[in-house]
Amino acid sequence: MKILAIETSCDDTCAAVLENDCLISSVISSQTDLHAKWGGVVPDIAKRAHIERIEPEIKIALKRAKIKMEEIDAIAVTVGPGLAIALGVGVNKAKELAIKFNKKLIGINHVEGHILANLIKNKEGKPERKIEFPALALTVSGGHTKLVLMEQTHPSRRCGTPSLEKGGFKYTVVGETLDDAAGEALDKAAKMMGLGYPGGPIIERLAETGDKNYLKLPRPLSTQKNFDYSFSGLKTSFYYQIREWPKEKIGENLTNLSASFQDAVFDSLLIKFKKAIEFYNPKTLMASGGVVANLELRKRLRKLAKEFNAPLLMPVKKQFNTDNAAMIGVVGYYKALRGEFVENKEELDRNPRLNF
Ligand code: KG4
Ligand code: ZN
Repeated sequence: MKILAIETSCDDTCAAVLENDCLISSVISSQTDLHAKWGGVVPDIAKRAHIERIEPEIKIALKRAKIKMEEIDAIAVTVGPGLAIALGVGVNKAKELAIKFNKKLIGINHVEGHILANLIKNKEGKPERKIEFPALALTVSGGHTKLVLMEQTHPSRRCGTPSLEKGGFKYTVVGETLDDAAGEALDKAAKMMGLGYPGGPIIERLAETGDKNYLKLPRPLSTQKNFDYSFSGLKTSFYYQIREWPKEKIGENLTNLSASFQDAVFDSLLIKFKKAIEFYNPKTLMASGGVVANLELRKRLRKLAKEFNAPLLMPVKKQFNTDNAAMIGVVGYYKALRGEFVENKEELDRNPRLNF
């Protein structure tokens, strides 16, 4: 099955071609440079850039895959959650192509995309990844911080070992942020320090040589029994501690401030992840989303998994953590196996607040 996947939920214009769950080509056009001077994503600018770039990107993705539009079996597109006017560009393009070329159409939830980014295979079908259920997935990006329990529904349980392909997945959100997402908090802290956008990778680099105990910052909700997160109090505490500092003092302490803030965010993430592991006893751990591109976080996640002797899946390539269309294509593949196609293509609509 040949799938064309499209993702335009935020500030990356992405297209990919997959043969089943194997990635043949992936194009990502980041708009970082367009939004950087505003310190965050400006929806109107994102929409305009998506409109300009989506068609050429799809053409490049098809060309690199050496596949013609006529050979595609299904088109998978992110319908939400995300920025309404950005999502609209991808959804409209997918509908237009599906109708014009008479292709099957699949609507995809962006958060499921981040989780299944762990199952993207290369052209050779590698890596072969096994998920033992229940699995516990931590998804951390600029828009989401969620702990999701993933189980498999087995329509044909009696027929031997259940394979990933046989069953659908059942997701239960067991914890999530009550306010800002972790990536959003990193981006806002970077902005307060006068750093660029997106802040996560800049803070990562600075934190490497900083003292994480330099500022005392809270680990919000960490003593509560639930698995929810909160990052807005952490951000406010950071702001109040540095707001009266002269610029020079902030400039001299960028590494220490970054290390302290990053450590508080990662501690918060890990404390709740650990609690949820103890409670749900998952057989596989998964982590994904833009913030999981961070090497320090990956190291700490590996250490945690080792403590529980549980296998941990994280996307194999950095670009599969941040937004991409390959992950949308993989979800599309599993949905196509179950025949979950859009019935009336004309009616497919974006859903910026799509639940998970
Ligand atoms: O998954 P993503 O591309 O988009 C959303 O769905 O939100 O995630 C973007 C977020 C941004 O907040 C960015 O600062 C963060 O991921 N991020 C990182 C790193 N790379 C991206 N955070 C920490 N360390 C990184 N290396
Ligand atoms: Zn995302």
